[in-house]
Amino acid sequence: MGEFKSVKQTNTNADMSFQNGFRYKLSEFVDSVRENGILITINKLYQRLYYKVKKIDFSTQNLYDLSRVGEHQENGTALVSTSKDFLYITLTRLEEIIGKKLNKSLFIDLGSGKGATLIHSVNFGFDQSIGVEFAKELHEIAIENIKKVKVKNAKSLLEDAATYNFPVDTSIIFMFNPFDKVVMEKAVINIKKSESTFENSVYIIYVNPSCEAALDSHFKLIAEDSYPSGARVNYYLV
Ligand SMILES: C[S@@+](CC[C@H](N)C(=O)[O-])C[C@H]1O[C@@H](n2cnc3c(N)ncnc32)[C@H](O)[C@@H]1O
Repeated sequence: MGEFKSVKQTNTNADMSFQNGFRYKLSEFVDSVRENGILITINKLYQRLYYKVKKIDFSTQNLYDLSRVGEHQENGTALVSTSKDFLYITLTRLEEIIGKKLNKSLFIDLGSGKGATLIHSVNFGFDQSIGVEFAKELHEIAIENIKKVKVKNAKSLLEDAATYNFPVDTSIIFMFNPFDKVVMEKAVINIKKSESTFENSVYIIYVNPSCEAALDSHFKLIAEDSYPSGARVNYYLV
C-alpha cells in the first residue's frame, strides 16, 4: 500500500521523516510485492520515477517546523501523501458499495498536503478538486506540483479545515487522518450546515480514521474496510 503503511505517531509533533529513508522504502517494496505482486509493484516504481523526473514532490514531511494558519496548529498530523493506486482503490470501492458510478463534480480533500489527491482525483475523472491545507509550505508545494503535471481544475487553498465552507456541488469529502477530534468536530458541524444545499449525494472517505465517533453520530457509515498493510477506510453517506 506504499504511503499508507499504518503508523502510530500521527500528531502534529510526530517525526515521520523515517518514511523518506532507504530502509522504509525497501520494506515498502517487499510488502508491496507480497500484497500486490511484482507487476503492480513495478508500476508503482515507474510512477515514482515519473515524479522524480518531473520533480514532483509528494515526499513525507513533518509539520512542527512549518508555518501553519488558523487556531488549530497543534491539532494536525504530519504530511504523508496518498498514492494514486490507493486513491483509485477507495473511489472504485465506493462505487462498488453504492452500486453505481460516482457523481464526479467536485472532490474535496481536507488536509490536502502536497496536493497528491487533488491531482489523482482529476485524473480519475472528477471535474474539479479542491484541497484545504493549513501549512503554507505544503500548500505552496501543492501549487507547484499541480503546475508541473498540468492538471487543470485542481486547486489548493491555504486554510484551516475547521473553517472551510463546502460548495454546493461537493460530491466527495476525502480525509486521510488529517487532524484530531477538536478539528474534526468543527468540520462535521460545517458539513451539517451545508447539507441542505448539496446538489448531489455526498460521500466521505475517511482513511486511517482516528476520530470516527465524531462522524458516526451524524452520518451513515456504509462500509469499513481494512487492508493487509494496516490501512483502514471508513465510508459515510452525508
Ligand atoms: C496525513 S496528511 C494527508 C495529505 C493528503 N490528504 C494526502 O492524502 O495526500 C494530513 C495533512 O493534513 C494537514 N492538516 C492538519 N490539520 C489541518 C487543518 N486544521 N487544516 C488543514 N490542513 C490540516 C497536514 O498539514 C497534512 O498535510
